[in-house]
Amino acid sequence: MRVFFVASEMAPFSKTGGLGDVTAALPAILRALGTDIRILVPLYPDRPRMEDLRKLCTVHIPFSTTTGELWSLYDQPYIWFLRQPEYFHRPGGPYQDPRGQDWRDNAERFAFLNRVAVEIVQGRVAELDGWRPDIVHLHDWQTGLVPYLLALEEKVGANRPATVFTIHNLAYQGRFAPEMLRRLHLPEEDFHPGGTELYGSFSFLKAGLVYADRLTTVSPRYAHEIQTPESGMGLDGLLRTRSGDLTGILNGIDTTIWNPGADPSLPAHFNSGSLTGKSACKTHLQSLLGLDTDHGMFLLGMISRLVEQKGCDLVLQLMPELMRRRIQMVILGTGDRHLEQWAQELAARYPGRMVAKIAFDECLSHQIEAGIDAFLMPSRFEPCGLNQMYSLRYGSPPIVHETGGLADTIQDAGDGSRDQGNGFIFRPATADALRNAIDRAESIFVQPEQWQRLQRRGMAEDYSWQQTAQQYITLYRSIFLNGSLEKY
Ligand code: ADP
Ligand code: GLC
Repeated sequence: MRVFFVASEMAPFSKTGGLGDVTAALPAILRALGTDIRILVPLYPDRPRMEDLRKLCTVHIPFSTTTGELWSLYDQPYIWFLRQPEYFHRPGGPYQDPRGQDWRDNAERFAFLNRVAVEIVQGRVAELDGWRPDIVHLHDWQTGLVPYLLALEEKVGANRPATVFTIHNLAYQGRFAPEMLRRLHLPEEDFHPGGTELYGSFSFLKAGLVYADRLTTVSPRYAHEIQTPESGMGLDGLLRTRSGDLTGILNGIDTTIWNPGADPSLPAHFNSGSLTGKSACKTHLQSLLGLDTDHGMFLLGMISRLVEQKGCDLVLQLMPELMRRRIQMVILGTGDRHLEQWAQELAARYPGRMVAKIAFDECLSHQIEAGIDAFLMPSRFEPCGLNQMYSLRYGSPPIVHETGGLADTIQDAGDGSRDQGNGFIFRPATADALRNAIDRAESIFVQPEQWQRLQRRGMAEDYSWQQTAQQYITLYRSIFLNGSLEKY
């Protein structure tokens, strides 16, 4: 089976969140399981280096004189980068400028990626030796035009492969003014509520949701939630009509990168059999960050995009109260300026007790996962979430709001006496409910034997990609079996 992934980011080359982790790990494991896979991502500055790349060809797209180049990695030739310096070689991030504003031409930038993908998929790039996929697997709004463009080709009699669209986050909808249709050379006749229109805007996400053959999202609970008016972000009606085509498949984690037994970022290693190394990681983290090196402190951590979704404000509200107790806090994140400032102001008020690192720092994120006692994830909604699974693996029981993938992966430990659960779960998403969960966690933390049993239960769980990848393969096969590919 030939599968083509198209995505806007892929770790370690580009990553703003969990999407990059998923588009790195999932194709690799699908490939190991025998899928003939290729992935296309834009080439952003810095990584990979040009000397690690080989040029495959130049690609032309319809209606435009702008061309792009396809380059593949020498040592992983299934990874293809789209080089278009005007669109993608910029300072800042994949979606935003250095000041945190969305790039003004995001519609054109990602439409270009989508158009190039369609040229490849439809076999119009001669240099690719006839490689054409059976399934095209798209991720989030940045790739939502691909199913639509392929549906347009089918309308005029062309064959096309089947399309699978994965929702990583329904909140990001790629909405633009309707005038954008003309700029992107897209037909206006589909601009209506049953097509590409979302409440007066043209939406890349809506195009993906309406025109893809199958839809998936990244946890079973989120698949259910997005079909309700409370969590459907205005798309629940459409998702209910497509519920027969929508599956929730829980993400996995890359257990080679997130392995406390061999993680090169850590000063000491540990596993569920021996937790001694974790104490060394805690002391190291405390001194690295300028926290008081007091082993008895209950050290809490949060690593997150600092946006409303993640509930960081709930944690910040509680800080004055938590800082009166034997609790320390470390926050690593970037995002909304007011949340960044609020976190920094609090950290300045509680030296030795609270640290706010406003940065995107991969190495520090590993050191925090290993060095803290418990991880906070009070997300208002969370399609899947990866950090709670990293935390389980690193012996740092997660304290989470009961939503989406958090509810699917964390079971409550209660008061710890019954040897059950792997973390702490609260609802509703309020500072009070969060405080209550932190209180319960702390009361177990001060009983080291019970706490260690809780840590070990979490560390023993298997959230590797193996099972998840198998579910995607089953989905791809079902598309074959029910005949959607017959005419291809
Ligand atoms: P989301 O994709 O919504 O941001 P996830 O939990 O799925 O949430 O994934 C977030 C990923 O991004 C994790 O790998 C996390 O460690 C990483 N991450 C987020 N913020 C930072 C940061 N400031 N520094 C390093 N890694 C970060
Ligand atoms: C999104 C979601 C997150 C999920 C990630 C990877 O960014 O917010 O919950 O884990 O995608 O699927």
